[in-house]
Amino acid sequence: MLGKSLPKIITALPGPKSKEVIDRRKTAIPGGVGCPSPCVIKRGEGAMFEDLDGNIFMDWVGGIGVLNIGYSHPEVVEAAKAQCEKYFHTSINVVHYPEYIELAEQLNELMPIEGQKKTMFINSGAEAVENAVKIARKYTKKTDIIVFTGAFHGRTLLTMSMTAKQKPYKFGMGPFAPGIHRCEFPYMYRRPEGMNEAEAIKYYLQKLEDFFLEYTPAEDVAAIIFEPVQGEGGFIIPPIEYVKGVREICNKYGILLIADEVQTGYCRTGKMFASEYWKEAGAAPDIITSAKSIAGGLPISSVTARAEIMDAPGVGEIGGTYCGNPVAAAAALKVIEIMKRDKLADRANAIGERCMARFHQWKEKYEMIGEIRGLGAMMAIEFVKDRASKTPAKEALGNIIAETAKNGLITMSSGVKGTSIRFLMPLVITDEQIDVGLDILEKALDKHIK
Ligand SMILES: Cc1ncc(COP(=O)(O)O)c(C=O)c1O
Repeated sequence: MLGKSLPKIITALPGPKSKEVIDRRKTAIPGGVGCPSPCVIKRGEGAMFEDLDGNIFMDWVGGIGVLNIGYSHPEVVEAAKAQCEKYFHTSINVVHYPEYIELAEQLNELMPIEGQKKTMFINSGAEAVENAVKIARKYTKKTDIIVFTGAFHGRTLLTMSMTAKQKPYKFGMGPFAPGIHRCEFPYMYRRPEGMNEAEAIKYYLQKLEDFFLEYTPAEDVAAIIFEPVQGEGGFIIPPIEYVKGVREICNKYGILLIADEVQTGYCRTGKMFASEYWKEAGAAPDIITSAKSIAGGLPISSVTARAEIMDAPGVGEIGGTYCGNPVAAAAALKVIEIMKRDKLADRANAIGERCMARFHQWKEKYEMIGEIRGLGAMMAIEFVKDRASKTPAKEALGNIIAETAKNGLITMSSGVKGTSIRFLMPLVITDEQIDVGLDILEKALDKHIK
């Protein structure tokens, strides 16, 4: 059974059948839609996939955080098939359909926001963020949005403007949307030298307060948005005391706090949503965006907020032809049912503990590991040339990722400087698969870092 198997590479990579398709890709698809992996998938199950040449890979990227439930979960496949047989499209703006409404009810119950909530659906993470911004502006009657260094919110014009990293995400594609202001994110590993954590939190909060003096007055700010764990930014986790401070600043100035849970949602961080940690600390967000793992790979995303915020836009001001597609909604309902039933949030914590135990050993062994960090199963290792200078070791990381792929383990980098390896393995992965994956990674570390 593929889902329980282990990596097995039987050809040079890419194998001949994969190579033929990859060559055709180069002719048919623009290079800007990048892909470094040396294989073409034939079928996937759980955390594993087989390529066209019969090689078996373990996937620790999961379609970039989309496969928390694993490849082609049989119950999700059944739910999608059953929906296809009934109808696979009718617009929610034209005919009512129960799947959209039931999924909204589910998310209203699950999202860690105070008060009575409402939810709308769109198709992608970027659209979720766009709509969160539109709704926040409409509700507050203010224009400006504060985003952060290291942030990633998407590739549409507005969300590209909100995204931090210039290359490859926005270079040469401006001018960007106005009203977006970028403040410094609390990247604790790279905080100013000599500061302890408590001092650094104060420093970053003060930066935010000072921001209103120099860049945009608080009176003009509709929302502050950040990811509970920065995804593309390198899996940077803002300390909870910082989040509490931001919440206080939002309360003080009547600013909405938006949690972009596109990558952190659906059990990845050890909770159904990472902002549950915020709510437990008394710092619940006002708006939450979600996407990626919501429907196991079918395109659908969400915006949830208190009812009075969501009801600010008038009829026709939000929505779209495909938004909240019935097949994707039916799949999402099944994904959520399985996540709750199989306690995948707890499983994320167990995966995190298992991996972190090994990462701690590696930190002792390799000088070039600068930091290991994680929340549940959203983990990263940051590589540096040496611990004193913290100079990014980008080339070494590239070699490690290429080496693991050669041995059947698909991994991916992240971080503005591209120096962290991120772990987004499906949460249905077995302990045996985790251990084998870690062995493959350790061999690559042995070869490429000291
Ligand atoms: C936090 C976050 N927001 C938004 C997006 C954009 O999502 P999409 O690629 O579905 O538009 C991403 C994608 O990686 C993300 O990680």
